[in-house]
Amino acid sequence: MEETWKAVDEYFEEKLKTTDDIMDHILKETDDAGMQQIEVSKAHGKMLYLMAKMAKAKSILEIGTLGGFSTVWLARALPEDGRMATIEADPNHAEVARRNIASVELAAPVDVIEGQALDRLPKLMERGYSRFDLIFIDADKENNVEYLKWALKFSHKGSVIIVDNVVRHGRIIDDTETQAIPYIRQMFDMLEHDGRIESTAIQTVGQKGYDGFLMGVVK
Ligand code: SAH
Ligand code: DHB
Ligand code: MG
Repeated sequence: MEETWKAVDEYFEEKLKTTDDIMDHILKETDDAGMQQIEVSKAHGKMLYLMAKMAKAKSILEIGTLGGFSTVWLARALPEDGRMATIEADPNHAEVARRNIASVELAAPVDVIEGQALDRLPKLMERGYSRFDLIFIDADKENNVEYLKWALKFSHKGSVIIVDNVVRHGRIIDDTETQAIPYIRQMFDMLEHDGRIESTAIQTVGQKGYDGFLMGVVK
């Protein structure tokens, strides 16, 4: 089955242009730097871009930058008066991301903020950020509840919140899991009782296997 998922993604790549020279360059630079290939797939990178466009986002926050692949897809959706912040704990990742982002012509500035997200998030106000139109959570899954709480703090009515890797080959419903899953489930437990956001989740297959996104709009 995985082979078919990959082949279908390749078909979409050709027909829908889910990649281009710039994004391929970023993938190569990230790979050459010896970083794990855990960025979103090509089709999902473009999906994030389209979602940011649909939301007419002018301000975007990302938690978990890696080499800047999803960052650049999201930033491409921003208008000239837009702005994006992305937080990355690993200094090497942040450096590669900064280089990749600098190699792309973007209408709006992208601020790569180095540090642990939970240290950096409380200081975003000092950097002049107040509310974000779209927030993409894709860092250490253990802190997803805290990241979701921060995302809600930085939201306004209509803000879009997206969380990556919420299915993990179906392990999300496996009670015996001890790694990231219990923490991802805490986030779903929070959503079950939190009335501030309307959300759904989609299961995805493709180039990167079987996983999924949580997505919601703040009420
Ligand atoms: N969003 C990227 C992939 C991110 S991978 C893309 O799709 O292109 C997850 C990233 O989160 C890694 O680079 C990792 O170093 C970073 N990370 C892990 N824990 C973190 C933390 N506590 N604070 C900030 N970044 C963190
Ligand atoms: C992992 C993290 C991700 O953000 C992802 O998209 C895939 C895998 C990981 O930590 O294994
Ligand atoms: Mg991810």
